[in-house]
Amino acid sequence: MKKIKRPPLLFKILIVAIVLFAAAQFIRPKLNNPPVTGDFKAPNDVKNIVVRACYDCHSNETYLRWYDKISPGFWQVAEHVKDGRSHLNFSKWDSLAPADQKEKLWEVVNQVAGGAMPVKSYEFVHPSTKISPNDLAVLKKYVAGMAQSHPGDTAKINAADKQYKQWQNVKPAVNLPQAANGITYNPDYKNWQPISTTERFDNGTMRVIFGNDVAVKAIKENNIRPWPNGTIFAKVAWDQLEDMDGNITTGAFKQVEYMIKDDKKYASTKGWGWARFKTPKMVPYGKNAMFATECVDCHKPLKDEDFVFTRPIKN
Ligand code: HEC
Ligand code: HEC
Repeated sequence: MKKIKRPPLLFKILIVAIVLFAAAQFIRPKLNNPPVTGDFKAPNDVKNIVVRACYDCHSNETYLRWYDKISPGFWQVAEHVKDGRSHLNFSKWDSLAPADQKEKLWEVVNQVAGGAMPVKSYEFVHPSTKISPNDLAVLKKYVAGMAQSHPGDTAKINAADKQYKQWQNVKPAVNLPQAANGITYNPDYKNWQPISTTERFDNGTMRVIFGNDVAVKAIKENNIRPWPNGTIFAKVAWDQLEDMDGNITTGAFKQVEYMIKDDKKYASTKGWGWARFKTPKMVPYGKNAMFATECVDCHKPLKDEDFVFTRPIKN
């Protein structure tokens, strides 16, 4: 008897894979380029960087390479573009109010500086979208140039000094304000260690980020991905003022924001408890607990860094 030779298993798997791959080509999410209604305007060097690195996902001028059009990769590209456009669309730039444009540009600088944008998996297959340190410097300089500065506002500086002194002396209150998700204002942060300071170019505020003991220990031990439970950050913002000699000082107190790490208690908001208290009266921000969605959404691109923007300065 002659034995009939069966095709080896691997060969069968390959055939199935080829059939599936071919079939996948017929499944095509809709992805088109709607008209550009009000394009982003900026000096050429800035615009070129943004077009090259960001327009594929943040404009109606998405440029698909041939390999982008092959499913299943195409499905992911289409998803990125849909999601990217819904967050930020440079083709509809004119529909944003000037203040919102500045705010978006500030976010642009932060997302790029934080390493969240352009989306890393995309950058890997599209090396042309890479942002070099020099590109980032160009973007930063452009956005910094938009800050309004009012040199020599002595009255404001004096008022701010007075407020700062009061702020330093606040006695721990009995009825501490509470945010809609139950997080209470915590005055302790004034004794924590500053981890980083940033300037917000777009609206002229200055901020300091404080970390509690758990945060400081985690930084020393480089145990920050994820941050351990018990970590707390407080981000404090003041107006930024400039005196006659061009020195930058802090102005009026604006707000303090917290992120409190507890991966069980705050599982529904990415393992962090979020809260913001505004003005020296510490008015809690947010009508109901849903306000935290806003915080999470903007911090989400940093998910590989446990949702934290700040890169602690190592000492
Ligand atoms: C591969 C597609 C892709 C590329 C390229 C890309 N982004 Fe994004 N971007 C996204 C997606 C998707 C989101 C939504 C992210 C999320 O929620 O996790 C986003 C979110 C953002 C946000 C937050 C916007 C908001 O208001 O919530 C900013 C800012 C941003 N991107 C800036 C940039 C910049 C600047 C570049 C170019 C240097 C860039 N992106 C390149 C896909 C992309
Ligand atoms: C529009 C984007 C955006 C939104 C919305 C947002 N943040 Fe942030 N947050 C940032 C950026 C950017 C930083 C980095 C520090 C800086 O440059 O100010 C930051 C930093 C922080 C920090 C310091 C730790 C870190 O991640 O670096 C805390 C705490 C914080 N945010 C709390 C909040 C809370 C609470 C909310 C919601 C009430 C919120 N944030 C909403 C963008 C945002």
